[in-house]
Amino acid sequence: MNMRSIPFILILFIASPASTQTFNLKSSIERGKELYVLECQSCHMAEGEGLSGVYPPVAKTDYLKQPAPFLINIVLKGQSGEIVVNGAKYNTPMPAQDYLSDEKVSDIFNYIRNSWTNKGAAITPEQVKTQREKNKAQ
Ligand code: HEC
Repeated sequence: MNMRSIPFILILFIASPASTQTFNLKSSIERGKELYVLECQSCHMAEGEGLSGVYPPVAKTDYLKQPAPFLINIVLKGQSGEIVVNGAKYNTPMPAQDYLSDEKVSDIFNYIRNSWTNKGAAITPEQVKTQREKNKAQ
């Protein structure tokens, strides 16, 4: 690399948006735990186990492996119609929770995708923001 370009690259790194620089999966998961209790636990239950035939589980589920935009929209737009989670059918509407900030939606998914044996890549606030803008443009 050209040595003279190094200071320039450093400036770009420092000047880029704070949110992408400070995103930390571990602290996102920690915040998400409290948010889950407030926003999701009343239906999906304390251990993510749901309620048989009414509220699908978010623990140990195949459903959370789906692409980030799809999952983000479940919270931003709500979900209704029949779905199959871990082989069982559900058909109860879930209300949209689009009042939650980009960071909060990201934190909640990072918590549930990394709890109760679920394993999923981080969902960043930027991904939520992008999806929210796409929905508005529709
Ligand atoms: C008022 C009850 C209620 C609340 C609160 C709620 N959900 Fe749901 N959720 C449901 C129902 C009911 C379904 C199934 C919808 C259907 O049958 O089409 C569902 C489906 C889902 C699914 C897809 C299926 C699965 O189990 O993986 C995800 C993911 C999900 N919810 C995440 C969340 C998150 C995250 C929150 C909190 C931000 C939340 N839900 C809050 C009732 C709720």
